[in-house]
Amino acid sequence: MTKDLSKKSLFRLLDGFTSEREIKKYLQRFESDDFRFAVIKVGGAIVTDDLENLTDSISFLHEVGLCPIIVHGCGPKLTSTLNEKNIEFEFIDGIRVTNEDVLDEAIKAFKDTNNLIVNALNKKNVQAIGYADGYFDCELLDKKYGYVGEIKGLNIQEIKNSINNNKIPVIASLGALGSNQIVNINADIAVLELAKIVQPDKVIFLTATGGVLDENNKIISNISIKDDFDNLINKDWLHSGMKLKIEQIKILLENLPSDSSCSITSPIDLPKELFSDSGKGTLVKKGHQIDTFEYVSEDYSNTIKFILENSFNGKVSNQYMNSIHDKKLFISSCKRAIILLDNHKNIPYMDKFAVTPNARGEGLGNSIWKKMIKENSKVFWRSRHGNDINGFYKQISDGFHKTDKWNIFWIGVKNSDEIIECINYADSKEVSISYE
Ligand code: ARG
Repeated sequence: MTKDLSKKSLFRLLDGFTSEREIKKYLQRFESDDFRFAVIKVGGAIVTDDLENLTDSISFLHEVGLCPIIVHGCGPKLTSTLNEKNIEFEFIDGIRVTNEDVLDEAIKAFKDTNNLIVNALNKKNVQAIGYADGYFDCELLDKKYGYVGEIKGLNIQEIKNSINNNKIPVIASLGALGSNQIVNINADIAVLELAKIVQPDKVIFLTATGGVLDENNKIISNISIKDDFDNLINKDWLHSGMKLKIEQIKILLENLPSDSSCSITSPIDLPKELFSDSGKGTLVKKGHQIDTFEYVSEDYSNTIKFILENSFNGKVSNQYMNSIHDKKLFISSCKRAIILLDNHKNIPYMDKFAVTPNARGEGLGNSIWKKMIKENSKVFWRSRHGNDINGFYKQISDGFHKTDKWNIFWIGVKNSDEIIECINYADSKEVSISYE
């Protein structure tokens, strides 16, 4: 639905952050998901502190024809009411123990929060339906937690119907035991159970920080569970709440199709996260299988040619194709990304790094890059002036040198004679791709 109106609003909200090509690509991808587009978890604090940005971003999605499923908590509101009313409560294993008094307040807080979201959306002419009466079918989780439910099922048809009618479902994380007893459910668990059934393309967590923060409080753009999980989870700077979230996301992704991904972003950055390759937030993917070959067998020639021509939008010379067999190859199992390495005087030269346009924004480039770097403490390469990737290269390289035609980068090359050797080699290598 690339209506003119939608296009205008897309550009307004995206504010020059992304290109038309990216917008079209993601619009097409998300539209084709139908009711499986996205489950969005909205923390209770967002509703209290950032409702305007939340509803702006959701109405933007609605305007371009996308209908996410919203699940919300109400934690901070409930905590403050309980404190005001001197009702004691405690957490066991991160779960709020819910006695009758706590439950009464929880039900009210959930209803208020749910109404707040639904009304704010309606005010923006976005139709939304609230589910605040215990949408999830539950059994009691364990007596020690009180009225806390374990989800056993849910009526997916209801959600499908509301999406078919172009109404955004807004679901409170409350459940029902049979027909009359309401129970409390941890909102992250509700998201997990819902996602298992919906199998969405995206699961999105909207938070105030807008992503997973590294030791310098900067947002980590990509996390691959396969490559980064073990390392990340052991970092002492990783906030305990985030640790828990990443562990839950790992379980979540294990239960979703391999293409699905999870984004953590803030309400205001949601459109940018969704409609650009680079995103604005943290993208968590299951990870990619990358295979390594010491030399390129004939079987791979056509695949490599295809990936190169697609990625660089040019024509690869025959001469180059005849020379690839001695190179070392890294290739993703989905055959959409490659790195080719040469050797010059025992220093690896990255001859090609290519990710096809339809695979960008999936963290695939990141995965293949990391694998190559892990295996090569020294490497050098070149890229054209004006290439979008140069910013990334400048950040991660140990040094770079500009010649008339090329930027030449290196990692781990320390000796100045070697650096000069690398620069001369890279600068004088023949061009292998021609552009019409
Ligand atoms: N727009 C794509 C998506 O929503 C890519 C997002 C990339 N985000 C990131 N933080 N690296 O899946």
